[in-house]
Amino acid sequence: MITPGHVCYHLPIIMDFVHSLLNLVAPIVTLPALFFLTPVYCVFKVLWYINRSISKEDVAGKVVLIVGASSGIGEHVAYEYARRGACLVLAARREKSLREVADTAKLLGAPEAIVIPTDVSKIDELNHLVNCAGVTPMCMLEETTDITNFTSVMDINFWGYVYMTYLSIPHLRKSKGKIIVIASSASWMPAPRMSFYNASKAAVVSFYESLRRELGSDVGITIVTPGLTESEMSQGKIMNKDGEIVVDQDMRDAEMSIMPIELTTASARAVVDGACRATTAYWVVFFPEIVEWVNRWFLGVKPGASPSDALSKKLLDLPGMRHVAQPDSVRSSKIKEG
Ligand SMILES: NC(=O)c1ccc[n+]([C@@H]2O[C@H](COP(=O)([O-])OP(=O)(O)OC[C@H]3O[C@@H](n4cnc5c(N)ncnc54)[C@H](OP(=O)(O)O)[C@@H]3O)[C@@H](O)[C@H]2O)c1
Repeated sequence: MITPGHVCYHLPIIMDFVHSLLNLVAPIVTLPALFFLTPVYCVFKVLWYINRSISKEDVAGKVVLIVGASSGIGEHVAYEYARRGACLVLAARREKSLREVADTAKLLGAPEAIVIPTDVSKIDELNHLVNCAGVTPMCMLEETTDITNFTSVMDINFWGYVYMTYLSIPHLRKSKGKIIVIASSASWMPAPRMSFYNASKAAVVSFYESLRRELGSDVGITIVTPGLTESEMSQGKIMNKDGEIVVDQDMRDAEMSIMPIELTTASARAVVDGACRATTAYWVVFFPEIVEWVNRWFLGVKPGASPSDALSKKLLDLPGMRHVAQPDSVRSSKIKEG
């Protein structure tokens, strides 16, 4: 007869046996399953992708909320939706800039463009939410004078998105709408001097990948991970080591160097096309260690080092190089007011 005492005594042996059995059986079952299922899965993915590419959502007359619409990518995403006839709700802090964006959007074809400088909770119909607001801290962790200056990065880049999403989900469920989030290539290819930024963008990707599993097919989620794009950020508007928003084009040059900067119009078109087709593109970096080493060496990453000494900046300063790598607009340090 087996008593409870016997069971307890034998439990570790039984568990060991089960684990050993699983270690043996799992590879034998998994490898052939992968071998046979992978081609079927690839065919399915290709057909699914083709279907998504053909069937495109018509956003004319639909309501799109864009947070971070006063400049840069958000501003041009607004124009792209306007050309397609969507009604716009534009949010950010600078009211004057928002009004200018709203006027241009109406000229481009938006039947309506409402400006909401702060309060975004008064919306009762919504089809697309575009989360685009962001700030870009650029400094080494060791150079920061007060670490608490950077809590606002997560507040804006991560919590700002989450908060807007939370408020919008009931409306988006009703309309079978979509959430579009502007993350960054920095979420999977982190650059030095941008640890807070990279972390905030990685958090965004992870959060929305999880949310995708929670919302299922009720609300579509498109995560966009742009590379360098023409905007106030690429004009050099960054958060410095003291947590202040400044325009520092030397730091911008050292960090971005001769990496080509995409035009905002092209980037915005890709964002709205991606949202309307509900596609997601994944990029894989194969050699992270080499990328990391090159990054450190090329961008001249040393505490206290001047960005002007970085090889990345010197290369950009070579005659004619800027004209090849950067749109004219990012050479100006003039940032919109109010
Ligand atoms: N440019 C690039 O190379 C690049 C690359 C990858 C990803 N991104 C991402 O793209 C998004 C847009 O940036 P951008 O490049 O277009 O730069 P941008 O021109 O500086 O635009 C940033 C936008 O965020 C808004 N914003 C900032 N703080 C805010 C706050 N506390 N509340 C509400 N709105 C706020 C700004 O408006 P107000 O100042 O008027 O509030 C502005 O409309 C960001 O999330 C950025 O991380 C940019």
